[in-house]
Amino acid sequence: MKLLVTGGAGYIGAVVAAKLLAAGHQVTVLDDLSTGHADAVPAGAVFVHGTVRDDAKQVLGDGDIDAVLHFAAHSLVGESVANPAKYWSNNLGGTLALIEEMHRAGTRKIVFSSTAAVYGDPERVPITESDPTRPTSPYGASKLAVDTALTEYSRVHGIGGVSLRYFNVAGAYRCADGSWLGERHRPETHLIPNVLGQGGDHLSVRINGTDYPTPDGTCVRDYIHVSDLADAHLLALGACEPGGHRIYNLGNGAGFSVREVIDVCREVTGREILAETGPRRAGDPAVLVASSARIQAELGWEAARDLRDMVADAWQFVQVRAAR
Ligand code: UFG
Repeated sequence: MKLLVTGGAGYIGAVVAAKLLAAGHQVTVLDDLSTGHADAVPAGAVFVHGTVRDDAKQVLGDGDIDAVLHFAAHSLVGESVANPAKYWSNNLGGTLALIEEMHRAGTRKIVFSSTAAVYGDPERVPITESDPTRPTSPYGASKLAVDTALTEYSRVHGIGGVSLRYFNVAGAYRCADGSWLGERHRPETHLIPNVLGQGGDHLSVRINGTDYPTPDGTCVRDYIHVSDLADAHLLALGACEPGGHRIYNLGNGAGFSVREVIDVCREVTGREILAETGPRRAGDPAVLVASSARIQAELGWEAARDLRDMVADAWQFVQVRAAR
């Protein structure tokens, strides 16, 4: 298929683009490089430097693209609280412009990067797709608004859509040519890359809050390997049916506390890791764990990699970059 991957220079989009190319698809990456890296765009993809709002029209042409995988978005929860307009304008406004262009061009399929943040502070775990959606940030609200819009556009325009609600994505991916794709955010807010840092001998991290109602007082999250997550996108692409919109959670179904993640990092790296304790980070729910039963039952997706694999691959990525 001819595919457009928006945000394909970012962490997750680049891994999905690499897997799509390996599966024999033709891939065009559209990315404004506001947070992505041009050197992350996999070899073999056509790269267009531009924004979804201004440049999707040209890429979609007159039916030149069969399906869109839409990753381009801002994704910092804290920033979204401080600057909600940026999130509404880009994550919702940009996506609506993209869907309108798809409609004009006759492109009927879209796989959308949604998020666990649509659920806010859950009443119970594991979270299913039919649980209440009460986002606690403009980031989560903007993603939920797109999920809702996709349901409407599928009904009205006959678009076939799949929203994938990611829990905590981690790890790195080794491409067929031996190069690694991994997390390179500036600033970095995610736990595992913060613990692993630049791969030096002395690692340290600040634990954001130790007074949560969890067994060890630190937040519990459901970590999913970026490679398993990417596989789900290929299955979702095959499941886009005109006029239908499916929503799937994507996690491993197991919760790990911040302290447990740090312990796994100690085991995998063999390094001492200094863990300082600090205050809570605003907006962090105590526990987020996914039920991925729906995508398992309907598309046959299953996670193949555990937290140790995620940390091991993230550590490889950090060390390869440090050796450059
Ligand atoms: N944490 C630390 N120290 C750090 C970084 C993180 O203690 O240096 C803690 C966080 O406070 C949280 C846990 O580790 O308790 C996980 O934090 P991450 O930032 O790695 O991930 P989040 O759970 O905050 O974020 C993820 C996605 C977001 C999504 C959010 C929904 O990355 O895109 O889940 O809650 F919005």
